[in-house]
Amino acid sequence: MVYRVRTARAIAGEIEPPGDKSISHRAAMLGGLAQGVTTVENFLHGADTEATISCLRALGVEIHVEDPGPGTRGFRITIQGRGREGFREPEQVLDVRNSGTTIRMLSGALASLPFFSVLTGDDSLVRRPMHRVIDPLQHMGADIRGRDEDRYPPLVIRGGKLRGIEYAPVVMSAQVKSAVLLAGLGAEGRTVVNRASESRDHTERMLRAMGADISVDGNSVSIGPGPLRGLEIEAPGDVSSAAPWLALGAAHPRARIRLSRVGVNPGRIGILHVLKSMGAEVTVEEQPSAGAEPVADITVESGPLTAISIGGETIPNIIDEIPLIALVATQAEGETEIRDAAELRVKESDRISTTVGELARLGADIEELPDGMIIRGPTALKGGVCESHADHRLAMTLGVAGLLAQGETLVEGHECVAVSYPGFWDDLESLRAG
Ligand code: S3P
Repeated sequence: MVYRVRTARAIAGEIEPPGDKSISHRAAMLGGLAQGVTTVENFLHGADTEATISCLRALGVEIHVEDPGPGTRGFRITIQGRGREGFREPEQVLDVRNSGTTIRMLSGALASLPFFSVLTGDDSLVRRPMHRVIDPLQHMGADIRGRDEDRYPPLVIRGGKLRGIEYAPVVMSAQVKSAVLLAGLGAEGRTVVNRASESRDHTERMLRAMGADISVDGNSVSIGPGPLRGLEIEAPGDVSSAAPWLALGAAHPRARIRLSRVGVNPGRIGILHVLKSMGAEVTVEEQPSAGAEPVADITVESGPLTAISIGGETIPNIIDEIPLIALVATQAEGETEIRDAAELRVKESDRISTTVGELARLGADIEELPDGMIIRGPTALKGGVCESHADHRLAMTLGVAGLLAQGETLVEGHECVAVSYPGFWDDLESLRAG
């Protein structure tokens, strides 16, 4: 399906972005593993988190989903946790659809549960690398295998006894770290993950709040086996879903946008630092926290933008926002260089090649590098036909580009935003102020 976006002469408004996807996945999974009731307010109503719920139900976890009605954005879910013993062998293959977080984190939990399970997903998911989780789990003693010599889904797991390991991930991935920590909950001895602070720490925060035997020491996190207790959780707004509006506010010459109740976990707010360094006016007002997660209202206004160089340890912190940063860079003076981001090639699409290709179709001066891209600006974008490649983050980037570009932009495959932000196109139109 195609969505048509016209140029916006001015942008103004306030948006409460949908519930955090990373936190929603974790709340459902950890709530299932815990003893007692877990409630989650503002649970993301998106295709990825629905996949997590349906997999957990197929594993015997009782979850009640409630739509609190108009004026509220997320769902309220209630999980009747019965601990690890509450899980049973699924009769069918578990379908995680488009969700990398679901397949990787669930693999960690299933590795120590005493039954057989098979996990797979959609055409994009079955091309995503799984060796990064299979390898540490096999070191822990897990019987887990994947297609093409353990590289890709489907994954086959025969859960059993695990032993704790000390693990230094090769790829800085919160999904891999979380999978190993969930396996550690059911392993003998302690499990240690090094370089843990280099990726988002939602799992660590939630495990601690649920009473896990977890400790963080500098850059490493250590967990011992033991039960979790149910918890009342609120998912803050997803900063990655606030990001399209942050990018729009920064890049549009006449814009002011306020974003309310956004999660500002330090491992996720690299986008704010990047936009500020480029010259955007970004104001962050601290709000009451959502349990273990910090929350803020954020206001963004356009300013004269200049190019920036990004790479190294900043990358995991902005990994989902790079297509949007590339778009903002088309409006900045000078040459923006993004390096060390080869990981983007194995996201929902090859996000280096798709971002470069689609922004070029709209007139951007952008060049592909093996591990990133170079963008020269400022360029006046021109409306045209572009394609989401079934990648929600790219579809949203192209929607924002459509508001900036002259004339009309047609975004093909726009419906994939449902993965993380079903109301995206309505929110986009609501910001048009001219
Ligand atoms: C996520 C971690 C990131 C991110 C993904 C969600 C998570 O992946 O790209 O959208 O919830 O842990 P990696 O940490 O594997 O890069």
